[in-house]
Amino acid sequence: MSTEPIVTEVRDRILTIRLNRADKKNAINGVMYKAMADAMIAGNADPEVRVILFTGTDGCFSSGNDLADFLNSPMDAGGGVVAQFMQSVVDAGKPVVAAVAGPAVGIGTTLLLHCDLIYAAEKTRFQLPFVNIGICPEFASSLMMPVIMGHPRAAELLLLGEPFTAAKAREYGLINEVLPEADVEAHARAQALKLAAQPPNAMRTAKALLKRWTREQVKDVIGIEVNHFVPMLQQPEAIEAIGAFVQKRKPDFSKFN
Ligand code: COA
Repeated sequence: MSTEPIVTEVRDRILTIRLNRADKKNAINGVMYKAMADAMIAGNADPEVRVILFTGTDGCFSSGNDLADFLNSPMDAGGGVVAQFMQSVVDAGKPVVAAVAGPAVGIGTTLLLHCDLIYAAEKTRFQLPFVNIGICPEFASSLMMPVIMGHPRAAELLLLGEPFTAAKAREYGLINEVLPEADVEAHARAQALKLAAQPPNAMRTAKALLKRWTREQVKDVIGIEVNHFVPMLQQPEAIEAIGAFVQKRKPDFSKFN
């Protein structure tokens, strides 16, 4: 297995983008966002590629943005490589499939809001702990969560920020299917192969039509969220929450108003 944190492969007309930083639970740092954005843009332009598949390592999709990076590498006002990656996913004209297992936290869940077919292992642990760490929803999740599941469910997942199961993710319409962990990637790949065998122009047209009603709004909302998110990272609530994670202690928000 490669030691690169993002591993890409084109095989059978499927571009696989694998998060491969298992020692940090596939936490995504700046280098990884850039590599994924570049892979998305190249895959979208490559006529050999008909489907894009996101996956992780054994039993782990992603623990979300690298929290140490949040503290140590202040994000550009416009969101920098994170925003570039989001843009590349929103701009994908080809179908995007995800195979998810283990932790899928923060952007490890919000990425799925922009995929087309999503398969998760029974033991997947989704979580959207933005408020919990003193920041706000990103990747247009403040728009797409209520669109996909309605406000009460979106509020439950985004405001409480508690982990939730694959069964709940399916009930709430976030994913397509729950499978035994050993079968998830193979099933997602089999579904991707079916998509790759479809007529490609008809596929791209259907995807463009499906996304037509939300695409421009998604782009706007990503920008609006970034305008909140980036300054919030410098505020005491986020510094306390992220510092607590790095120092392996419980955060204390009792002193904030
Ligand atoms: N950023 C940076 N490092 C992370 C990380 C993240 N998002 N998530 C996990 N890691 C690191 C841990 O610090 C630890 O590193 P160490 O071995 O050098 O101490 C290693 O990955 C393993 O993590 P650990 O917490 O021991 O694994 P776990 O199986 O007990 O828990 C998670 C896994 C994902 C539930 C837990 O790590 C977690 O909650 N991570 C933070 C998620 C988060 O808040 N993401 C940001 C959302 S915006």
